[in-house]
Amino acid sequence: MAKSIFISNVLPEEARRLIPRQWAVDYNGTDVPLSKNELIRRLRGKDGLVCHIISSIDEDVFAACPGLKVVANVAVGFNNIDVAAATRHDVVVTNTPDVLTETTADFAWALLMAAARRVVEADRYARAGEWKVWKWDLLWGAEVHGKSLGVIGFGRIGRAVARRGRGFDMPILYHDAVRADAGVERDLGATFVAKDRLLADADFVTVHTNLTAETRHLIDEAALKAMKKTAILVNAARGPIVDEAALVRALREGWIAGAGLDVFEDEPKIHPGLLPLQNVVLAPHIASASRDTRTEMAMLAVRNCVAVLEGKPPITPVR
Ligand code: GLV
Repeated sequence: MAKSIFISNVLPEEARRLIPRQWAVDYNGTDVPLSKNELIRRLRGKDGLVCHIISSIDEDVFAACPGLKVVANVAVGFNNIDVAAATRHDVVVTNTPDVLTETTADFAWALLMAAARRVVEADRYARAGEWKVWKWDLLWGAEVHGKSLGVIGFGRIGRAVARRGRGFDMPILYHDAVRADAGVERDLGATFVAKDRLLADADFVTVHTNLTAETRHLIDEAALKAMKKTAILVNAARGPIVDEAALVRALREGWIAGAGLDVFEDEPKIHPGLLPLQNVVLAPHIASASRDTRTEMAMLAVRNCVAVLEGKPPITPVR
């Protein structure tokens, strides 16, 4: 039987083409987030939703759209969806793991390198015409190779970040709620440590957990104070994992040396205290943003949506 799908924001044609022709598709081909009322108005009566992280899918939405069978998020993170409410309403939720792992890890490294070697400051300096003479102590940054890399959240992306660290001869410390298999630890040269020890010992701390009630403000004032004064924090996971107001104080007052951030507590707003600081690199949530990866993510989301509506198991359900 023909189905109906709402695509709440822009999605590449390659992905939309995977939807069976006879199905009805309501496509909002813009980047503008819909208000809850508008989202409900367009979703009501549909069988499936393909959405991005800018859509908040909560109890109100599920209650107002009783025919809904699947929500396919075009992201690996799914904190924008109330999964417990989805389960109560018998709606399958899917995400897009794996296809973005390496690209996201690349970008976490881009932030790490940029913050350590002051790449953005250097670019600003060069463009501003301030470079008049070669200077011995110009823009000294932090050493990267051989320094210790602390990975908090040792899932797919955390491990991919750790693997890159091996190429820089970095000892890898990691912390996660679940310890990895001995084989994984051996392959990555990674040592499982308590969070406090990681914070105290790592030269770079990079965060790769999901955002949950437990991980909200995992990096808070105490955590930032526990880090080395020379340490650099990277967050390409979710903004609320880091207490942004505490981070502003940490960067301003030198509790840590720097940070590279792709995500923020109240996106697209950035804490105004971060903006004037030179020791932080800021990016607008683009860690998975390459054409290939974004296309793969969109295609996987659509495949998930179609599978569920055809009565098949979802490819990558949220657990
Ligand atoms: C992006 O933030 C994602 O979760 O895929």
